[in-house]
Amino acid sequence: MADRPSVTFTAPDIDAIAGATGEVAIIVPENGKLDVMARRVNRLTRGAVERLTGGEAFGKLKDGGAMTLAYPTGMAADAVHVIRLEKRTRGQAAREGGASLGARLGKAGGLLLAPSGLKGLDDVLLGALLRSYSFDAHLTGDTAPAPGALAVMTPDDDAAKRFETTQALADGICFTRDLVNEPSNILTTTEFANRLDALKSLGLKVKVMDEPELEKLGMRTLLAVGQGSESPSKVVVMEWMGGGKEAPVALCGKGVVFDTGGISLKPAGGMEDMTMDMGGAGTVAGVMQALAARKARANVVGLVGLVENMPDGKAQRPGDVVVSMKGDTVEVINTDAEGRLVLCDVMWYAQETYKPAAMIDLATLTGAVIIALGHENAGVFSNNDDLADAFLKAAGAENEGAWRLPLGAGYDRQLKSRVADMKNIGGRPAGSITAAQFLARFVKDETPWIHLDIAGVASLKGGTKLAPKGATGWGVLALNRLIADKYEN
Ligand code: BES
Ligand code: MN
Ligand code: ZN
Repeated sequence: MADRPSVTFTAPDIDAIAGATGEVAIIVPENGKLDVMARRVNRLTRGAVERLTGGEAFGKLKDGGAMTLAYPTGMAADAVHVIRLEKRTRGQAAREGGASLGARLGKAGGLLLAPSGLKGLDDVLLGALLRSYSFDAHLTGDTAPAPGALAVMTPDDDAAKRFETTQALADGICFTRDLVNEPSNILTTTEFANRLDALKSLGLKVKVMDEPELEKLGMRTLLAVGQGSESPSKVVVMEWMGGGKEAPVALCGKGVVFDTGGISLKPAGGMEDMTMDMGGAGTVAGVMQALAARKARANVVGLVGLVENMPDGKAQRPGDVVVSMKGDTVEVINTDAEGRLVLCDVMWYAQETYKPAAMIDLATLTGAVIIALGHENAGVFSNNDDLADAFLKAAGAENEGAWRLPLGAGYDRQLKSRVADMKNIGGRPAGSITAAQFLARFVKDETPWIHLDIAGVASLKGGTKLAPKGATGWGVLALNRLIADKYEN
């Protein structure tokens, strides 16, 4: 929730370098050749830069790695940050180079000296913005100060214009992170809906559907999950119609603001992590914000089911049979397999309302996907090879781990129920796949569909190169790229 550094662009002004405060960052290729701005830093520091780049440690840095000269004589800066980056390098290495600066940006801000012809400048800046994020909304006292302004000195006249897109992406990702990091007593279903409603200011059309309306639509499986909570269940629909007449892409998100497991109560240890069980909805929200902010020429609708899974006198019980909006009946064997009950109604509504060109759902759906893939990859399930391949390619380009897992009739049979059309769990074997099979029953034959199980990647105890500990914002970049590559005209 800390403010992102504001970024400004100026033409190279060699004489302004000595007086710059905070962090000064220079970019040097492997061969150590200094551009005109880095040469000035070297001269001001009486050769310290060349001593650093000539040393063994610099030689061992990977592309995108960095080292720091602290409190350099001859300059007002607190540090000179030397990023080793080839001029042609784009993508993850450039982002990591920027991230090393972002992680260090303090209140005094900084100055990035970007040499001419630096292809990865946009990525460097994205990395800096993403890694300077911190969630300190609830810290009192000695909080980390919000990062100060970042000035970019570059001969690249188009950089400022291109930065609008970078800013849109960073804002979308940080919106997702804020939502996922927020504790559940604050991010209630109502507060979540309010934060989505505020996206109207970006030109999104936002509709919040409350319980009576969901009841009328027949979203009984979604409502059954929320009926044990004091927080009212809601479905929020966000439309971005930036394209032409074509059918939209539908993004559906699981938004369980807290998952106690319900009557099938989870054990106490680690239950606090279930504050992130709205990660799917959070990612959908971040993508919608990014698309609107960069005025994407595509039609995309985001739909999120916001509920809280709590045990109380009104809560659903194991053994209950519930009718979905589609009309299929579900025997609820385990109230902790609630995400699929939320999504199946949201997905059915999305298809009935929008006849989408493609539908992608995101959910922190199963612990089993963490057993299968750890925290490196999200589980990808699809009924359509072209769409799945396009997504995997987009995720690969954005360095967001994604691995396809199978679907199949054998797995589907695990959902057979004695008293209803299906059970909501399929037993221990292949738990992520049977969860996907459950969802697949609510996908129309004509709808190309991807299910992303993000339970292992939405929030990390250890952080990543581009994110501090906690919410990652996984998927915002991949989905933004998929939409840009495949659906934008
Ligand atoms: N929200 C959980 C899945 C989860 C686990 C997300 C760990 C993030 C980290 C989901 O609702 C759930 O409880 N799934 C059960 C399903 C089981 C009852 C079939 C699970 O994975 O144990
Ligand atoms: Mn659960
Ligand atoms: Zn859950």
